[in-house]
Amino acid sequence: MALMDLEHCPLLDELMHDLHQLVVKEILSHYPSNYKQSAVIPLLDLAQQQHGGWLPVSAMNEIARVIEVAPIRACMKSQTFYSMFNRTKVGKYHLLVCGTTPCMIRGSRDIEDALLKHLGVKRNEVTKDGLFSVGEMECMGCCVNAPMIAVADYSKGSEGYTYNYYEDVTPKRVVGDSGDVEKRRSSSDGTKP
Ligand code: FES
Repeated sequence: MALMDLEHCPLLDELMHDLHQLVVKEILSHYPSNYKQSAVIPLLDLAQQQHGGWLPVSAMNEIARVIEVAPIRACMKSQTFYSMFNRTKVGKYHLLVCGTTPCMIRGSRDIEDALLKHLGVKRNEVTKDGLFSVGEMECMGCCVNAPMIAVADYSKGSEGYTYNYYEDVTPKRVVGDSGDVEKRRSSSDGTKP
């Protein structure tokens, strides 16, 4: 008997839809009913997790409908203000280079250039294998160890995504043969533990 294609199973889609509705209800229950808009950040966070690390416009429109505000008022403003919300698709590992002055003075542009060249993408493009994308984040609060990068890891799904921060990075440390990028690529395709 052929195995059911779970990714395209209508019953599973329906169950996931019901589950998401319950989570949305639970989030809204934390706020007075006349202040539904206060739930905008947790709802954007939930939607981003459900979409593999980014927020399509359709998700923001749906959130605006649920919290009864105009999309531009809360969703667009919040999503464009907080750099942890992504407006375009990102890779399983989204590499964020600090773009604030102390890190720039200490060479963060060279780090970004090395990453883009090594991966063969432009900023905010995803590599063909879907593993990596490169973006920018403002000050990560560790300027004393500039330049900094953060790696947002969406490989563990909606419940387990992580942000890891790396200090004193150099182009060699991130893109060399034993650099962080190749280590993550190897661990993702199973060629190394
Ligand atoms: S400027 Fe990069 S961590 Fe503060």
